This record gives sequence, structure tokens and C-alpha cells, in this order.
Amino acid sequence: MAIALDPRLYRDADWYQRERVSVWSDQWLMFCSETEVASDGSYVAADIADFPVLVARRPGGDLVGFLNVCPHRAGPILWPGSGVTGNLVCRYHGWAFNWRGDLVSARDFGESTELCPEQRILTPVDVATWCGMVFVRIRRGETDLFSDLGGLTEIVGRFPVDRFRFVRRMVRTLECNWKTYVDNYLEGYHVQLIHPSLTRALDMRTYRVSVPEPGYCHHTCDTTEGSPSGGAWLFRYPNLALNIYADGMNVERIIPVGRDRTHVVYDYYSESATQADIEAMVSMSNVVLDEDQAMCEQVQRGLDSGTYRGGPLSPKHEIAVAWFQDRLRAEVH
Ligand code: FES
Ligand SMILES: [Fe+2]
Repeated sequence: MAIALDPRLYRDADWYQRERVSVWSDQWLMFCSETEVASDGSYVAADIADFPVLVARRPGGDLVGFLNVCPHRAGPILWPGSGVTGNLVCRYHGWAFNWRGDLVSARDFGESTELCPEQRILTPVDVATWCGMVFVRIRRGETDLFSDLGGLTEIVGRFPVDRFRFVRRMVRTLECNWKTYVDNYLEGYHVQLIHPSLTRALDMRTYRVSVPEPGYCHHTCDTTEGSPSGGAWLFRYPNLALNIYADGMNVERIIPVGRDRTHVVYDYYSESATQADIEAMVSMSNVVLDEDQAMCEQVQRGLDSGTYRGGPLSPKHEIAVAWFQDRLRAEVH
């Protein structure tokens, strides 16, 4: 029987640093919506697991991505957030970089011997787009995003995602480790206990979770009217949930902010939602998120209590939890 992850791994500082290297540096991670970086010079700067990252649209050209850490004394090239910039000039002492990340001017630096190459360049990250979303990979790698996503793209391709537009973002801060929230997302075992509105809408007897490939899991459930929900709920390792329907989708990212705090970022995409539709979607997910947040924060206290050892995982309901935790055990060194 699968056994839940050692609770110490939900608060251990050294393990978190190892996750940053083994999980957060090497995976393609959804970073922002393509519409946020559509115009020349538009950018998004944000942290993922304490890696400051920026993605920008080079004027007249493609997307570029760098660590948002100046090689001089670690200042930000762009303040976290989004906007439009005409150049990449460090906010601290004004070193200027071109759109390839090469230093073009070290402002008023004074006489010096030649700077060595790593002092003259922003560290690049991989950038790619899929389905209106921009992904980054912090440590540059070989595999391209599309082949890395595998069979998940085929499931998403059954929906008219090309017609969906980014309409709203909601960000929550949870006082728990990122894995506490992911574990919770990966099982429907708790739905009847803490989500009354979902329980009314779904026929929980038909709730199924499968792991078709090592990279993602798939939840399915019929609605209470007996009709299939017509949607796909997918979770891509390590932190991306795609909830897709015929007329829109919401994309949920679970982002560590240190080892004991987590951002849950919800992006709503829709084909034709009115303002009222958007408000309804947001308030519905707020209700469910309130319920999950209260539980995850309480579970975190249980994990932190020093009284819990890692219990058995249900072979009926928690196979995706076992899958996720097995990957972490195998990959974090
Ligand atoms: S830290 Fe960037 S110019 Fe000094
Ligand atoms: Fe939940």
C-alpha cells in the first residue's frame, strides 16, 4: 500500500532548496498568459519558488526570458509585475542589456579591467507557448514544451481552446507548503466532506482519477443530472491544473513562496463570457477555494505537529497523490 510522504518534507528548509533544484528548475512551468506579453516591449516579472523570472516581447520579435537578477549586484531588471518597457536596464545602478541579455553599458562604472563573460550577461531561461499560455524552464534543457506535455495536449485539443481568451486572474496566498495544496487537488476523496456545492453538482459515485502518463493525471466525473460533465480536469506535474469546458477553461498554478507559503493563481479563459458570467465563475471558485484553503492550512498544522508519520493512501481515491509523491521521492535528491 502506498504511504503518504514524510511530513518533515513539508517544512524542511533543506528539502525545499533541493526541490528548487530538482523540481522547479528543470520543469516547463506555466508563467503567464500570452496576451500579457503580446505587444512590443510588454513584460511579466514574477517569482517561481524564489527564482525571479522575467519574460518580455522583444520589439518586433519573439519572446525572451531571463532570470530577473542583474549580474552586477543582483538587482531587478524589472520590478515584479507587468507592463511595457523600452529596454532592459537594471533598476539598481543602471546597467543596460540588449534583448539578447548582453551587457551594452555598465553605467558610470569607472576604470576597470575587462569584465568576464558571466559578468556581462543576463542568465537566459527557456520560453515557449502553448494554448495561449507562456511557459518557462529555468534551467535550459533539451526537450521542447509540446513533446514534454505528451498526451495531455491531445485531450486539451478536443476543446476549442483557440477561441478562448484570458479574462481574469485571481491570486490567493495560503499558509501551507505547496505540496499540501497539490495533494488536496489530486484527490476527490474529500469532496463530499468539505465541498457541499460541488457535491450537489457532481455525481460523486462516478468520480475517477487516472494517471495515463507519468507527466499528468486526469479527473473525470458526471454531473448529478446524469450527463457527463463534458469537461476535462487535468493536472500536469508539478503545479499546473487545467479545468477545461466547452466554452472556457480555468488554469490554476500552485506556486511556492518559500517552504511554508503558497500562491494559488487562477486564470480564467473564456470564449464569450459576459462580466456577469465572469463574476459568477470567480465567486464559484472562491467558495471552493475557501473550503480547500481552510482544510489545507489545518492539515499543514497537523503535518507540522510532530505527531503524524505518513498514513496509508487509498487505492481507490488517492492514486494520483501516490503518483505525485512517488515522483518527488524519485526526483528530489
Ligand atoms: S545590480 Fe544591476 S546595475 Fe547594479
Ligand atoms: Fe477540494
